[in-house]
Amino acid sequence: MRTLIITLFIGLVAVTSGQVMATSGGLHLEPVDIDLSDKASLQRGAKTFVNYCLSCHSASFMRYNRMAKDIGLTDKQVAENLMFASDKLGDTMTIAMRAEDAKKWFGVTPPDLSVISRARGTEWLNTYFRTFYLDESKTMGTNNLAFKDVGMPHILWQQQGYLNNTDGHLTEASKGELSSHNYNIMVRDLVNFLAYIGEPSKIQRLALGKWVLLYLFIFFLVAYPMKKAFWRDIH
Ligand code: HEC
Repeated sequence: MRTLIITLFIGLVAVTSGQVMATSGGLHLEPVDIDLSDKASLQRGAKTFVNYCLSCHSASFMRYNRMAKDIGLTDKQVAENLMFASDKLGDTMTIAMRAEDAKKWFGVTPPDLSVISRARGTEWLNTYFRTFYLDESKTMGTNNLAFKDVGMPHILWQQQGYLNNTDGHLTEASKGELSSHNYNIMVRDLVNFLAYIGEPSKIQRLALGKWVLLYLFIFFLVAYPMKKAFWRDIH
């Protein structure tokens, strides 16, 4: 009972803090379709994460073999496509860069992203990856609408291209490899993956939920005629 109360409390705090974040700053946040049962989307998101984020950010709560199972890949597929040669399947997603070096290069240490989806909310993340814009006054040459003066460069510039900012309104400055529609899908898959690593057990809970409902249904099929039979004798 005590753990239940504590869990409910933590859940409540997580939900409310997410909502407070979602409306802060007066910036319009882009809604995002999170679907943890969409394995193809999670796999694409994992690929983007490993190729473009893991060089600076860790996800130290997440183990490769756990991820493989959850997002519908074999250990072999993960080992061959999503891991550096020196990593082992049971390892967590850590990085080689030392925190002190990162701090020297970027002015700040890139934070671990294990629970970023819960800290920031998925709509914020979706907005963040879409709103990097050119800003020559910054060391990285870019800035961000959702994260003012961010120390992270526009990592996905090749895909999105660059944007100009005129009074909070973003327009295309140079083309990327992807159309804006396809870039938004890439970001959605990435955010879907970040939502998954923020709460990996949710996938199992969702799957379990179906079995619980089925169990209750079968139980009802058995219990209802039984109840009728009992009452027949009593009347
Ligand atoms: C070249 C290094 C580098 C790469 C690659 C990189 N980031 Fe970052 N990222 C940073 C740094 C540095 C910060 C901290 C920025 C700050 O605090 O000003 C940051 C901040 C962030 C934040 C905001 C964290 C917060 O405090 O709320 C998110 C989210 C994020 N990165 C996600 C990603 C994702 C997802 C990718 C891959 C697409 C990625 N980053 C790739 C360096 C990097």
